[in-house]
Amino acid sequence: MSLDVVNNLVILAKLAITQSNNIDALEKVRIKFLGKKGYLNQQIKNIYHTPSELRPKLGAAINKAKKDIYKTFIEQKNILNSKRIKNTLIRDMLDVTLPGRLSDIGTHHPITGTIKRMKLFFKSLGFSVIYGPEIEDDYFNFDALNIPAYHPSRDEHDTFWFDEKRLLRTHTSGVQIRAMTDKNPPIRIISFGRVYRKDYDHNHTPMFHQMEGLMIDSNIDLSHLKKILYDFLYNFFGKKIDLRFRPSYFPFTEPSAEIDVMEQKTGNWLELLGCGMVHPKILHHVGINTEKFSGFAFGIGIERLTMLLYNISDMRVFFKNDLQFLEQFK
Ligand code: DAH
Repeated sequence: MSLDVVNNLVILAKLAITQSNNIDALEKVRIKFLGKKGYLNQQIKNIYHTPSELRPKLGAAINKAKKDIYKTFIEQKNILNSKRIKNTLIRDMLDVTLPGRLSDIGTHHPITGTIKRMKLFFKSLGFSVIYGPEIEDDYFNFDALNIPAYHPSRDEHDTFWFDEKRLLRTHTSGVQIRAMTDKNPPIRIISFGRVYRKDYDHNHTPMFHQMEGLMIDSNIDLSHLKKILYDFLYNFFGKKIDLRFRPSYFPFTEPSAEIDVMEQKTGNWLELLGCGMVHPKILHHVGINTEKFSGFAFGIGIERLTMLLYNISDMRVFFKNDLQFLEQFK
């Protein structure tokens, strides 16, 4: 009777062991059958209820059953361990045949792209690039350009002032004064940079970019100015666009003009840049002999130019860091 129990326990234990699919479950089965208080040790305790002549045989059967079960337990443990190792190997495996991850290649910001093209054109005509400070003196930004305090055109500039004397430059024209103060004619310079005005709508951002140009030499007149700027614009847009040379007013040029471009869709004229012959007053002031030398200057809004090139209607997109917009310029 008890031998049958032992045999049944062996069958049950082996079944439970081979059905354990992880180490924890397997360990629980081991404790249940082979633990101190497990089923087989209980049989040993019960041995005293059997007639004494049967005890040695039963005892031997229980011991053999324990060994048997333990053997199956070890086999299953080995199987589960190697499965676990295989799984971690698969998980951590490095597949050297996979294609590499492409890193995203960036591109220049459209404003930078426009600046590069402008540089290329004007350098080919012998202009050199100089830079001026963004924090400027009211002398260079206004006074030396014939815009004294209380001059009405100061109001148009919506200036960010730091104190009575210092400001964020409202245009790049101050660089002209610095160039004429530092160099003797002939002078051919261009300058690029950020300028600032308190203004914000689809056509204005408080920070934007301008390019300034200045050419001083003997025998320079308005025809040189017009020719160079028209050539630049035809080259920049890659075709003969409709342009208009319109009289205007700037305190630092005489005569002054603006160039407008025709917007194809609407037929409207859009103002593109300001220019003119440098005012004799300014040349005198920086010590240039007006008997011998004359020159022209111009200032171009770089955002405006870029918007026209790519048909962009809102200037603010340039400064939103919107990748979807920027990636189009790759
Ligand atoms: N500084 C002017 C502006 O910001 C643009 C300009 C006009 C620059 C005429 C010039 C110039 O050099 O001659 O509106």
